Amino acid sequence: MDRIRIVGGKPLTGAIPISGAKNATLPLMIAALLTEDTLVLDNVPHLADVGLLERILGNHGVDVMIAGKRPGENGANGRTLHISAKNIVDTTAPYELVSKMRASFWVVAPLVARMGEAKVSMPGGCAIGTRPVDLLIMALEKLGAEIEIEGGYVVARAKNGLRGGEIEFPKVTVGGTHTALMAAALARGTTVIENAAREPEIGDVADCLNKMGAKISGAGTARIVVEGVARLNGARHSVLPDRIETGTYAMAVAMTGGDVLLQNARPELLQGALDALAQTGVTVTPTNEGIRIARNGAGLMPVDVTTEPFPGFPTDLQAQLMALMTRAKGTSRITETIFENRFMHVQELVRLGARIQLDGQTATIEGVERLNGAPVMATDLRASVSLVIAGLAAEGETVVNRVYHLDRGFERVEEKLARCGAEIERISD
Ligand code: EPU
Repeated sequence: MDRIRIVGGKPLTGAIPISGAKNATLPLMIAALLTEDTLVLDNVPHLADVGLLERILGNHGVDVMIAGKRPGENGANGRTLHISAKNIVDTTAPYELVSKMRASFWVVAPLVARMGEAKVSMPGGCAIGTRPVDLLIMALEKLGAEIEIEGGYVVARAKNGLRGGEIEFPKVTVGGTHTALMAAALARGTTVIENAAREPEIGDVADCLNKMGAKISGAGTARIVVEGVARLNGARHSVLPDRIETGTYAMAVAMTGGDVLLQNARPELLQGALDALAQTGVTVTPTNEGIRIARNGAGLMPVDVTTEPFPGFPTDLQAQLMALMTRAKGTSRITETIFENRFMHVQELVRLGARIQLDGQTATIEGVERLNGAPVMATDLRASVSLVIAGLAAEGETVVNRVYHLDRGFERVEEKLARCGAEIERISD
């Protein structure tokens, strides 16, 4: 398995292009199941999770062409996918595939909406917490689907199609909102989604669905209204920039010092995180081309942050901020409220010399003068990249093992950082 080797201590300068968002790409690809026509997606990042979803969709009979090539062939950065779900040959999503990536469970919504039935494996727990699907099931039931759980599978049936309904989420859920939107788009009548997730990726999917002929209003607010339509058509849509990748590189620059333009980044997608960064003393400047992040020799101020649904500070940047705070001049507190077990990076950061104490859902980080390189490993995507950030500032060599996790969600991370002056390379065995 590949590893990433970093020798810390180099400031970052230059420009980093921000890719299309993983967490918009995945539901957008799944939305292609809603139509017989071709959905064309531009600005698709080259990530392991995208490749895996191509395979999962392929199992249902979906044909995916990448910029005129077949899946698996090399594509350039920001690829174009032509996705055709003309013939759905199988409405079952098996355990072997769904267990590899939770978001693939979301195929349940377009399959039951268009085909009247779907049998999708329960995704099970994962490294960051239990992550149940009860609210996704609740949403489908409110739209008239009959749900049974059989042998670890969720079987959803709506022989006469789904019908509009009222869905009120007791808790903000991104996956629940995607599921409700996709199902409601093809349901008969009007659906109202209350306490909907407001994450920008929801808005991006709603925009794409509207281009496909859906009638969705209010996406981006807590109340979304969907007038169901009988059929959806093809469309062309460009994936919005990845706010988590943006925030990650912003924190990398904050960590090492330097001056980097994050090209194509959009500040309104991560204002909560940029505000926290500004409090640390980093200069954040929106420009016509993206966001410029700069830190001169001055030290980092500590900040206290609690993760929240959008527009709050995102859980997907919690590990990266923690890496940054290991070098702050003072004590900071980070509280995780979205996932109960998203602290796997703590013990690895401690191996690099960080001082972190965990008390329930709150980590207290006492900034240290220096981190020391070491071999480290993490079992999820965002935790892994937090170790890269720490390694960029650590003295000596840090080797991040199990790069597979990084490749799931970060496109060419070592290339993007090396171009800005980091001493970082991929080692393939
Ligand atoms: N929840 C339930 N029941 C449900 C669904 C969710 O209790 O039926 C709970 C979850 O356990 C969690 C909270 O609700 O405590 C929020 O979960 P949500 O459904 O919003 O998360 P998700 O849709 O599974 C997406 C992202 C995650 C991101 C979260 C929160 C994608 C593909 N995944 O997950 O991204 O952390 O929203 O913003 O969009 C990542 O990219 O590394 C990642 C984990």
